[in-house]
Amino acid sequence: MLTTFNDAARPSVYGAVQLGYAFVKSPHIAEWKRLAADGIGMGIAADSPNLIAFRTDAHARRLIVSKSSQEDLAIGWQVLNESAVQTILGRLNARKVDVQEIGGEEAAVRGVKSIWRFIGPKRQQFELFTEPMLDATAPKILTSGFVTGERGLGHVAITTRKPDAMIAFWREIFDAKISDFIEDRISGVNLRFTFLRFNPRHHSIAVAATKGLAMDPFATKIQHLEMQVATLDDVGEAYHRCRALGFKIAMSVGQHTNDRDVSFYAVTPSGFYFEVGWSSSAEEGERWPEMTHQGISVWGHKPQDQTLADQLAQIRNGVTSLLRNEYSPF
Ligand SMILES: [Fe+2]
Repeated sequence: MLTTFNDAARPSVYGAVQLGYAFVKSPHIAEWKRLAADGIGMGIAADSPNLIAFRTDAHARRLIVSKSSQEDLAIGWQVLNESAVQTILGRLNARKVDVQEIGGEEAAVRGVKSIWRFIGPKRQQFELFTEPMLDATAPKILTSGFVTGERGLGHVAITTRKPDAMIAFWREIFDAKISDFIEDRISGVNLRFTFLRFNPRHHSIAVAATKGLAMDPFATKIQHLEMQVATLDDVGEAYHRCRALGFKIAMSVGQHTNDRDVSFYAVTPSGFYFEVGWSSSAEEGERWPEMTHQGISVWGHKPQDQTLADQLAQIRNGVTSLLRNEYSPF
């Protein structure tokens, strides 16, 4: 029998889903290697002219960059047990979201045994997996560690013109809880962020939307991907390495109001941002009050290497987004 959202005895998958990997397609594979390995400090798991994979922990692969003529991105979600996968697949089926089960080389390249692929809000490609391949050797990383475990790899932030539909999707499919909200005015645009929690990490997805006229200022699939490092020194050293390598910094080091993360945002060769963050709170979990914070940052996070051309591109993206219908599965 299919599990539907309205079942009284609906099993919850909260706590059983975490960010697992990011699979990037990009023409700029050599630049990605410089950023991910030499800048952010990930270990290299595979290195060939057409594919580079990176490690941060015991997983064999956490970031995979495949050479392609076009930019694209798939987000992998690790589901911790078979019953949770079946619950999620039942929910997608009930909503008539098509799911492909894929194994073989396509899964192996992602460092997992098999995947279930579906197209989510904004036509973003998502993939579920239960069995990551592990590597018993310690990854050769430049940080003192990446914080993963029960919190997963990190988080992604996605801009949308249909925030209510996007939030409803993740609440229904992954039993997302709302940690909190932030309102801010950035580059003259009023924005509202909703932070969705699937596990003890403060958020695995942040949903960003303009208030009033619904515009999407980012042409990339996601606005940013975040990974959390073990110490504040790790943030500073990664920032220094990225600067020294010549990578553009979208936002300087600063501290967020809600999860208190200290972080910076580098611009990736694919156009979206990469946030390197550190949290002062050793414990996360259920302690977040569901409140609205004013401003994304307590201090810092100032635009650093953004040019007038970058700002004009965001305005152009926002305006042209008005001409497109953003896809939503339901
Ligand atoms: Fe973030």
